[in-house]
Amino acid sequence: MDYQQLLADRTRLMEASVIREILKVASSPGMISLAGGLPAAESFPLEIMEELMGAVLGKYGSKALQYDASEGWGPLREALVPHLAARGVTTTADGVLIMSGSQSLLDGIGKILISPGDYVAVEAPTYLGALQAFNPYEPHYLEIETDDGGLIPESLERVLSGQRVKLVYLVPTFQNPTGRTLSLARRKQVADILKRHDTLLLEDDPYSDLRYSGERVPPIKSLAPEHVVYSTTLSKTFAPGLRIGVCIAPEFIQRWLVTARQGVDLHTNTLAQALAAEYLTGGYLDRQLPRIIELYAPRQLAMLDALERHMPEDFTWSHPEGGMFVWVEGPKGFDAVELQRRVLEHGVAFVPGRYFYVNEEEGAATLRMNFTAADAATIEHAVGVIADVMAEML
Ligand SMILES: Cc1ncc(COP(=O)(O)O)c(C=O)c1O
Repeated sequence: MDYQQLLADRTRLMEASVIREILKVASSPGMISLAGGLPAAESFPLEIMEELMGAVLGKYGSKALQYDASEGWGPLREALVPHLAARGVTTTADGVLIMSGSQSLLDGIGKILISPGDYVAVEAPTYLGALQAFNPYEPHYLEIETDDGGLIPESLERVLSGQRVKLVYLVPTFQNPTGRTLSLARRKQVADILKRHDTLLLEDDPYSDLRYSGERVPPIKSLAPEHVVYSTTLSKTFAPGLRIGVCIAPEFIQRWLVTARQGVDLHTNTLAQALAAEYLTGGYLDRQLPRIIELYAPRQLAMLDALERHMPEDFTWSHPEGGMFVWVEGPKGFDAVELQRRVLEHGVAFVPGRYFYVNEEEGAATLRMNFTAADAATIEHAVGVIADVMAEML
């Protein structure tokens, strides 16, 4: 049968992620991978899972296995209110929507807001998974320029002045792929610009709990609540396999997200949500988060230290205070895809940065390196290998 001719037009717009292909190679035996974006398996609270499960089944019994409300499991929505307030996001339990990972919110937002040809503004570079989620809805992307401090507000102003933009998508804290964080001053400018142009922002914030130094910066949501859909996740602080995404949206948007998801998954896995509620209310997260930070902070330092010692001249890199990634930029004309091909032969993998741009002509000399999946000694070795190959290429 000719399956190809069965595909809907939009399906042809769903490209398999290049990164998935790289990750396949990166996960082959013996390979050292700085390519992934995975939490370390050691960060999962494996030892408490039986206790959590016992507590959930004891408290809720068969309810934890039943269909449930599309908005989310009540006790989890309630437990998230103080958790979000500690980050500066004020909401009630009714204002919390639980999604099946924050990735499913990206699709949900695309589905309810983007018609073919609508303008969507994204950072250059941006999170590839967001582009993958939006692509089938056929937006026209506009790039917002960035520098070492993240998005440049004047560039956002220019973009929004040029045409009616449906949606701005940003990862303002420890961005994937750059690790950069937008300062409070810039956040205030962004909030002001959004309000003046009456434009909606999707603020994707999976990483702000993974802070290893410095002070927390308030989310843009706290500065322009009516103009921001705020998204976060328990993937980095509990377990990504449980697929718990959290969304705080203006009520009108929340209602449409709920209607749209009823035709997709009805609701997020009830048992996973109940476990997450217990993880929060039982104080497990408060005990686990410092352990995760203790695991990642030395890995991040090891990467920054190795870059300092090994990188050839003319290479610069981000100095994130948290998250999972460091972004390296080489001199003009440097080819990071060729670098990747060559370092793979030495058993090391990373992701060339060009894949995170809407326009793949950009970012040819950039690299994204993950520092959470490997231990400090392995990171040191891998950065050394990459730097040696860079020097050869120069
Ligand atoms: C910026 C960003 N948004 C969303 C996601 C998806 O996370 P989740 O596991 O909550 O679907 C990721 C995952 O790495 C991410 O980096």
